[in-house]
Amino acid sequence: MKIVVIGGTGLIGSQVVALVRERGHEAVAASPSTGVDTLTGQGLEEALQGADVVVDVSNSPSFDTEPALDFFTRSARHLIDAEKKAGVRHHVTLSIVGVDQVPDYGYYRAKVAQEEAVRDSGVPYSIVRATQFFEFIAPVMDMSTEGEQVRMPSVRLRPIASADVAAAVAEAAWSEPSYGVRNIGGPEIHGLDRLGEITLAVKPDGRTVVTDETAGLFAGMPDVLVGDDTLHTAATGYEEWLKRR
Ligand SMILES: NC(=O)c1ccc[n+]([C@@H]2O[C@H](COP(=O)([O-])OP(=O)(O)OC[C@H]3O[C@@H](n4cnc5c(N)ncnc54)[C@H](OP(=O)(O)O)[C@@H]3O)[C@@H](O)[C@H]2O)c1
Repeated sequence: MKIVVIGGTGLIGSQVVALVRERGHEAVAASPSTGVDTLTGQGLEEALQGADVVVDVSNSPSFDTEPALDFFTRSARHLIDAEKKAGVRHHVTLSIVGVDQVPDYGYYRAKVAQEEAVRDSGVPYSIVRATQFFEFIAPVMDMSTEGEQVRMPSVRLRPIASADVAAAVAEAAWSEPSYGVRNIGGPEIHGLDRLGEITLAVKPDGRTVVTDETAGLFAGMPDVLVGDDTLHTAATGYEEWLKRR
């Protein structure tokens, strides 16, 4: 099976490419750094020649509403057109748990638009929705740091190791299209502020966490990011993962 991974050089994509190859399939890592740009369409036709499956784990370089909306809608359009020309028989997209319940957050609206484009495309599809990646916690903390304080709200998250996300995406890629959504998350639910405390307890760096419901990227986020009872739970715990790094 030839599986083209759009965003195949990124955090999730590079792990999906490795898993696909381990499984004995052909994997192509497609991204601007390998000459494939879904925003312009450049290199897509060549990359998709003979492809059975396309996995889209690309990400917008900007999290702001307009650029993200432009990235995900334009990329989806180019990708779907190229998939139809190439006769691709399965498209897998990675999205976010609870994404359609946060209409006030532009990046999430952009991801919903991406999902809609995939559902309406006519190409058989599977959507994997993951919770926030463990790897995402440290950058969120850095963005929320003022002096020695990390100011973050107590919104509940159920973060997951990127390796567990990649495994679920790869599994979807070599399985039949589900025409639906598979929700995946980590084994534990914590407030974002508590996740910051756990991080600094394992890797102290002089900073302390201050709970501030008005601070940072997740301020005002509704309590929808932990998923519901349809969520499949991955094994890796956050503290155990941190200690291994
Ligand atoms: N962060 C989270 O907690 C979280 C949670 C759930 C779902 N997600 C979703 O997971 C997906 C993957 O995230 P990630 O952290 O693995 O991303 P990442 O590490 O930032 O990688 C982004 C990838 O997208 C590629 N890319 C950028 N612009 C492109 C373009 N114009 N055409 C084709 N490829 C392009 C990059 O290629 P280059 O290397 O060549 O620049 C890179 O391979 C995203 O869609 C995100 O919404 C994230």
